[in-house]
Amino acid sequence: MIRIGALISGSGTNLAAIMRACDEGRIDGKVVFVGSDKPDAAGLDKAAKKGLPTFVVNYKEIIESYKKDPDSADLPQDFDIDVIAARMGLPGDGTFSDRDRAFLVTRAIAEARLLANMAKWDFDLLVLAGFMRKLTPYFIDRVNIDPLHPRIMNIHPAILPSFPGTDGYGDTFRYGCRVGGCTVHFIDYGEDTGPIIGQRCFSITPDDTIETVKEKGLMLEWELYPECIQL
Ligand code: GAR
Repeated sequence: MIRIGALISGSGTNLAAIMRACDEGRIDGKVVFVGSDKPDAAGLDKAAKKGLPTFVVNYKEIIESYKKDPDSADLPQDFDIDVIAARMGLPGDGTFSDRDRAFLVTRAIAEARLLANMAKWDFDLLVLAGFMRKLTPYFIDRVNIDPLHPRIMNIHPAILPSFPGTDGYGDTFRYGCRVGGCTVHFIDYGEDTGPIIGQRCFSITPDDTIETVKEKGLMLEWELYPECIQL
């Protein structure tokens, strides 16, 4: 039985599909916690209804409070901005922009809070199920303790490496693609990069709309993610 932690930002239909697959024995595992960056994520209710522990790290609040007063940022003790910047391909000598600094600092604060919450449970695998925040090396390296044993999976609404980013189905549709799809992969330091575990695709026909493309894609996501977790 693998112990699965999940991070979400939205409706949590992938989370629901994973919980269902655990209940039905298609995944030899169980979800042990659900975290969100948004207090109003509907997926939190789905988890709570199943009696699962949930937590929220409010990224928006952290970012706004940094903007108001950068000097009072409550940085984690073990955060070295130059090390994290270098791992992300930014200059490792402190010469990065204020915008990059704000990103690295606010994410480290948020990620330290995620890690502190997650530390309450033992888990083998962390699944990102519609979690719409980029995770930095600060977080990734503290979860992937063994470099040969990646522990963070993501589902992305496009056939990677095409259309990384926040609107995979929209980008696929607007480009005029005749095939769309979804990808499950392990995460690395890049945006929607990292080794691919599984993919599914579907045809896009002339009568499709952005809504029907999303519907087709999500139905495949609900099959693909549990299969990849079980794999
Ligand atoms: C899914 O389509 C997932 O692929 C996408 O967000 C949606 C979440 O739906 N994830 C990303 O775009 C990650 N970059 P859900 O909350 O109903 O599972």
